Amino acid sequence: MNRILITGALGQIGTLLCQSLSNDPDNFILATDIRKPIKNTQYDFVQADVLDYKFFVKLVTEHRINTIYHLVSILSANGEHDPFGTWNLNIQSFQNIVRLGKEYKIKRIFWPSSIAVYGKDISPILAPQQTEMNPETIYGITKLAGEKLMNYYKIKYGLDIRSIRLPGVISINAAGGGTTDFAVEMLNCALNKDKYTCYLLPNTRLPMIYIEDAINAIKALMKTNFKNNERIYSYNVMGYSLTPKIWADAIINKGYKLEVDYKPDYRQIIADGWPQTVDDKLANSIWGWAPKYNIEKTLSDILKS
Ligand SMILES: NC(=O)c1ccc[n+]([C@@H]2O[C@H](COP(=O)([O-])OP(=O)(O)OC[C@H]3O[C@@H](n4cnc5c(N)ncnc54)[C@H](O)[C@@H]3O)[C@@H](O)[C@H]2O)c1
Repeated sequence: MNRILITGALGQIGTLLCQSLSNDPDNFILATDIRKPIKNTQYDFVQADVLDYKFFVKLVTEHRINTIYHLVSILSANGEHDPFGTWNLNIQSFQNIVRLGKEYKIKRIFWPSSIAVYGKDISPILAPQQTEMNPETIYGITKLAGEKLMNYYKIKYGLDIRSIRLPGVISINAAGGGTTDFAVEMLNCALNKDKYTCYLLPNTRLPMIYIEDAINAIKALMKTNFKNNERIYSYNVMGYSLTPKIWADAIINKGYKLEVDYKPDYRQIIADGWPQTVDDKLANSIWGWAPKYNIEKTLSDILKS
């Protein structure tokens, strides 16, 4: 049986990942977050600060955890308000999870990286899987450090840490302060008949993924049998490339009234440092990654729920 602990379980990705993993009768789920859930969950939930290592030792031993999905992070836009706090939470929580992995023989760990690892000096059109990386946000720097640490701990302690470099994730729930949140915010404004002020310019192009594809990618990667000596990567994946204007037009084409004005703020500079698309051929060739949702299918799926 997979005895799974999830951190950041009430976030944009955690909410759906917990639901999806708990549908498998072979999985026991222990969801954790620093916040409390608004309504009862269909799986076990414990309120916990991921920086409280001793408490997590108790959770891991009491619940005989053998798999961890570590989703806690301060995201790109919020990170710029507090670089020191962002480094502390993102890196120290990573270290705590790795330590749990080492001390309590956790068989597999999932930790997401981000397209924020890239910087302005790479090809903006198609970012390669492997290239020189000079991120210009503290968030991107913590993600790049995590990618390096993941490889280090595999070599040092044989830990099986798996990772995906996620682009902006689209779902009905917003993430906690990312640069690609405009897509979710715009959709919610259309549904609530509100006007939307977009913090990015209309033609800012960024790679995105629908949450269902992101969850499927995480699950597929965690199921893959890798050879022991295989080099590990944080794999690029993406669904499609999107601008605020393309997204607004797609929503309007679905019959919604939506008025958008554009007032770029500091997040424009972050977005300008990120690629427009990423090369995800490696994920496809090694563990069969392929997105199922384009822009049209994403909108149809969200709007039917
Ligand atoms: N959403 C995206 O577009 C996106 C893109 C790339 C990568 N990612 C990565 O995926 C992961 C999940 O992202 P998300 O969008 O679900 O984030 P989110 O901000 O929606 O959720 C993070 C969760 O962590 C919780 N949390 C914060 N501090 C905590 C602490 N000290 N202890 C315990 N819980 C704490 C928050 O309450 C929140 O529920 C992150 O690592 C993020 O970097 C997300």
